[in-house]
This record gives sequence, C-alpha cells and structure tokens, in this order.
Amino acid sequence: MSLKNSLFECEGVSLSLGGRRILTNVSIDVNPGEIVGLVGPNGAGKTSLFEVLCGRYISEAGLVKLDGSDITKESFFKRARIGLARTYQSPVTPGSLTVGETFRAARKAFRPYLSVHDAEWAARLANLKVHWDTPAAALGAFDRRKLLISCLMMRNPKVILMDEPASGLINAEIDELDLIIRRIVDEYAIGVIMIEHRLELLSAVADRVVVLDLGEVIAKGSPETVFVDPKVHAAYFEDAHA
Ligand SMILES: Nc1ncnc2c1ncn2[C@@H]1O[C@H](COP(=O)(O)OP(=O)(O)O)[C@@H](O)[C@H]1O
Ligand SMILES: [Mg+2]
Repeated sequence: MSLKNSLFECEGVSLSLGGRRILTNVSIDVNPGEIVGLVGPNGAGKTSLFEVLCGRYISEAGLVKLDGSDITKESFFKRARIGLARTYQSPVTPGSLTVGETFRAARKAFRPYLSVHDAEWAARLANLKVHWDTPAAALGAFDRRKLLISCLMMRNPKVILMDEPASGLINAEIDELDLIIRRIVDEYAIGVIMIEHRLELLSAVADRVVVLDLGEVIAKGSPETVFVDPKVHAAYFEDAHA
C-alpha cells in the first residue's frame, strides 16, 4: 500500500460495528492550509470515519498517517498530543464553568505554561466577544462553538476534524464561521476536514470535497464538479437506498 505525503491521510479504511459493515475501503487526505469537505447523506458513515481517524474506533483494514508517520495503532490521546484535534456536532462545554474558567482548564490541560494572553489570542482568533464571567453553558450555540475552537487553537493543532460545525447555526453565523475557519487554516497552515451533510454549504468554504454514501467514497474533487456528479445526485435525491 503506498501513501503519498499529505499532512494527514487515511487509505483503505474498512470498519464493521456490531457485525455490520459501516465503511469500505475509504481514503481521504488533507494538506496544510486546506479545507476538505466530507459530505454524504445521513448514515453514510461520516462520523464513524472521524472515530477511526481520531483513534476511538479501530478499523479492520487501512492506514492512518500524520506528517508521514503511521499512527494507525496510536491511542486517541496520543493522536491529540501530536496535533490531531477534533470538534463534535454538538458544541458541549464542560459542566458549570464560566468562559474564563473553561479557558483556564484548557490551558492547564493542554499546555500548563500557557498564559491568559494565549487565551485572549485564541478568543480573538475565533471572534469570541463575550464576558469571561458568563457561564459557558449559557452561551448560544455559535459562541459555544467559538469557545471550543479557541480552546483547541491553544493546543497548536496540525489538523482539525470538524463534525458538522454549521449545525444549529443560522446563515449569517455560518458565513462568519467560514471566515474564521478559513483565517485559521490560512494563517497557521492547518488542515481541516469538515463534515457537512448539506452539499451546498461546502461550496463557500471547501477546497475539495469527498462524498461518502453507504460507507464508500462515491465522488471526489472540487465542489463544482462533485455537485453535478450524477452519482452524488442519486445518493441525495433518489430513493436509491430503499
Ligand atoms: N456504535 C455503532 N454500532 C453500530 N452501528 C453504528 C454505530 N455507530 C454508527 N452506526 C451506524 O453506522 C452508520 C453510519 O453512521 P454515522 O457514521 O453516524 O453516519 P453519518 O455521520 O454519515 O450520518 C449508520 O447506519 C449508523 O446506524
Ligand atoms: Mg454524523
């Protein structure tokens, strides 16, 4: 099996859960400064692929590589330590902490020597404009998402896997989020793989798109080419799975 040298990649990933095949021979890669959209209808296997990439699910076949090193057998925690970050579909903040306390906890957990100035830098990066004594759980979905992105950025990640970051946001917020993510990716040469089940949202932000359906990659390429691919239309709009 040969892998080209991307920043982060997997090749030939197959996964079964509970005796059911969930992913078959899936490959995806991202380069520094690139946003790759991972799309596909609900149940296609997008989140399951993220679980394999971040080390929570062990695939029965395939390789995962970061910076050219094979990390297929590394734990979730090791992967996080060496630069793989992940966000979840629901922006859940920890317990009863305020915004300031959340930043403090993130600083201590990730890099004990980080200062409050690093947290202020990260908040600015994510356009987070809230009082730091606000309980994090009282923030709206968008501010909670910004807070979690800020906390991740203090870890100086190489790659961020984002599971449906636009979920629960209104259109103006999605536009702002796209700008924030693009700025982070450009300025720090981070690679982002972003799950989004709504194809049309990716044209604004993704450099490339990979389409998953029933656990297999059915199309890859620029958003423009993928959007007009008949296989992709069939997966989304025809009753192909009945
Ligand atoms: N822990 C699990 N055990 C068994 N089946 C699962 C598990 N997690 C997900 N699945 C199944 O795997 C398929 C893909 O799910 P998922 O990865 O969540 O898709 P997506 O994120 O694209 O909506 C679905 O059919 C789902 O029911
Ligand atoms: Mg999902």
